[in-house]
Amino acid sequence: MNIAELEKIARALVAPGKGILAADESSGTIQKRFEKIGVQSTADSRRDYREFLFRTPAMREFISGVILYDETIRQTAKDGTPLVKIIEASGAIPGIKVDAGTKPLPACPGEVVTEGLDGLASRLADYHKLGARFAKWRAVIDIGPGIPSYDCLHANAHALARYAALCQAANIVPIVEPEVLMDGDHDIDRCYAVTEWMLKETYQELYYAKVALEGTILKPNMVISGVKAARQASVQDVAKLTLKCLKECVPPAVPGIAFLSGGQSDEAATAHLDAMSKMGPLPWTLTFSYGRALQAAPQKAWSGKPDNVAAGQRAFAHRARMNGLAALGKWSPSLEKEAA
Ligand code: 13P
Repeated sequence: MNIAELEKIARALVAPGKGILAADESSGTIQKRFEKIGVQSTADSRRDYREFLFRTPAMREFISGVILYDETIRQTAKDGTPLVKIIEASGAIPGIKVDAGTKPLPACPGEVVTEGLDGLASRLADYHKLGARFAKWRAVIDIGPGIPSYDCLHANAHALARYAALCQAANIVPIVEPEVLMDGDHDIDRCYAVTEWMLKETYQELYYAKVALEGTILKPNMVISGVKAARQASVQDVAKLTLKCLKECVPPAVPGIAFLSGGQSDEAATAHLDAMSKMGPLPWTLTFSYGRALQAAPQKAWSGKPDNVAAGQRAFAHRARMNGLAALGKWSPSLEKEAA
């Protein structure tokens, strides 16, 4: 493991005004996204879609890294260029999702644990050869009556730490993603309590696994009201409580925090990041690692039609720019009207 090299990659992923494009939807998830826009999900349609995203000129300005799925990291563009090369040519760093999704956690009804540790060392070595310099593993914590349990938090935090240690041994920067879901009708204080508990557990396990925090990125949820809660916390409250929670839990040795969007609307995800960036200075760099909040608009604009590729690229460039500005605390709602 070369910690200086890992830290260099981690810092590049959170370069000022840039963030990560999470384009690592599994084949099942991208199928659901494509169904919404009336597109049949095939290896070619997935390739065509992702190729136009990666060829968008705004990548150079606003995107530091792209998280890929196993299929995509091996795919070539229509002209035969590997998609990884197109990402590298834009100045972004290719990354790879390495978890194998969630399975029910025994004796813990309603709770799941993320799998994928078996054989991970050799998969990481292969991915490094294919160009991946960072990886992602997502733990999923649901809030509901009587959940989460300690067992669930501990099992997921332990798996995240084992994954992170394996990544660093393979000279790959681990993105550590403990996602507390925003589904449900809980209030923001409950989200705060569960997020704090999970982050404390995660950093404890990372310590025991001897993970060098300098060579990691945290990808957390924001502290936010459940989507079905009667009262929705304001942008300022989300920003304040998220930062308070992160300051309580995330050591300053961590170079950067790249939020997931988690089902927030495009503009809410941008507004929250912007409000937090305006509250600096902070011990770590804040940015985005959005999937849906970067891709919903371009997917809709494209809708699978070759004639709409330029419109899809404009929609992607706009969201990338809005979030790049939000990472600097330079966004305002009026900029939303200037769709590039
Ligand atoms: P969302 O921003 O759509 O939550 O996706 C980010 C991600 O990578 C989830 O693992």
